[in-house]
Amino acid sequence: MAPQDRLAQVNAHLNYPQGLFAGQTAIITGAGQGIGAEAARLFANEGAKVVVADIDEKKANDVVNAINSAGPGRAIAVVGDVTDANYIENLVKKAAEFGNGKIHIIVNNAGFTWDGVIHKMSDKQWETMLAVHNTAPFRLVRAAAPYFRVKDKEPRVIINISSTSGVHGNAGQVNYSVAKAGVVGLTKTIAKEWGPQFGVRANTIAFGYITTRLTAAKEDGAYFTTSDGTKVALGIPRKGKTDNSYQDGAEPYADIPLRRPGSAEEAARAIVGVASPYFSYVNGETIRVTGGRNIYLHVNLFDSSIRIYGLNRYIQKKQV
Ligand SMILES: NC(=O)c1ccc[n+]([C@@H]2O[C@H](COP(=O)([O-])OP(=O)(O)OC[C@H]3O[C@@H](n4cnc5c(N)ncnc54)[C@H](O)[C@@H]3O)[C@@H](O)[C@H]2O)c1
Repeated sequence: MAPQDRLAQVNAHLNYPQGLFAGQTAIITGAGQGIGAEAARLFANEGAKVVVADIDEKKANDVVNAINSAGPGRAIAVVGDVTDANYIENLVKKAAEFGNGKIHIIVNNAGFTWDGVIHKMSDKQWETMLAVHNTAPFRLVRAAAPYFRVKDKEPRVIINISSTSGVHGNAGQVNYSVAKAGVVGLTKTIAKEWGPQFGVRANTIAFGYITTRLTAAKEDGAYFTTSDGTKVALGIPRKGKTDNSYQDGAEPYADIPLRRPGSAEEAARAIVGVASPYFSYVNGETIRVTGGRNIYLHVNLFDSSIRIYGLNRYIQKKQV
């Protein structure tokens, strides 16, 4: 049995209703699939009551049903679009009811990409990325303020999900990169405003390459449907390329020291770790979860060129 399978098996049996988050309530946006869904499962395994917030009703309910099948009452779905201000108010209301008047954790994870080069990017592409990755998390944090600006000595944690595109920039993703950089400012401001009196911790987690539909081949045809019905194609163009290599003949994942992408569960484990008491003195940080990718030069995923591959090889040879 693979170590990660064993971990999941042991977690499911031993922790709930005890666990690291016993008695706590967590809102996880974008928890209908991918990283958010895995985080919902892991938080529930660690004793949290989990609010699965997603625009996709079926997927959100599937996640909730899977969690509750292991033990009822651990999770609820609150379905809606995080860019809708009314939905955010409703989400906080439902979460507070579910948590018997308390909310302890928010993971601002909902998001998607709408790529394009700068000179061809429309205002709508630009504004949509800022709306989903900046305005929505801000509104959620603001609406939840009465549940975080409290002095009951219970832990309160906010985690905002960013990307290495936000840290390094990424060609073809100016809208996403700016938005993902923006959450760093949101995180640090929460830490400074709500840390001193209330002990609220806020951290950003910037993921590298995690295998979800966001990083699947664009040719697979996955898309996100916005509330106004616009279909946004997701994924990374891989035409003419092997699935696990940016250039035929190149070593797979040459830009990642671990030589593989992360799984959604591995990404979710980082979220749970940062939210946990083990990270009780980590605050205001941007934690990069990349398999070490960021310690090399940044690779342009958008045009998937690997011009720096030769340089990486040179660096590796020098190290040996
Ligand atoms: N996958 C990666 O490599 C990667 C890298 C860096 C950052 N991220 C970030 O991680 C987060 C999760 O992405 P993922 O890879 O799990 O993608 P995913 O597409 O598998 O899941 C995203 C979820 O968010 C939901 N969602 C999107 N927009 C929404 C909206 N307006 N309202 C409500 N729900 C909405 C979707 O329905 C979906 O269930 C995103 O913020 C993404 O930008 C992912």
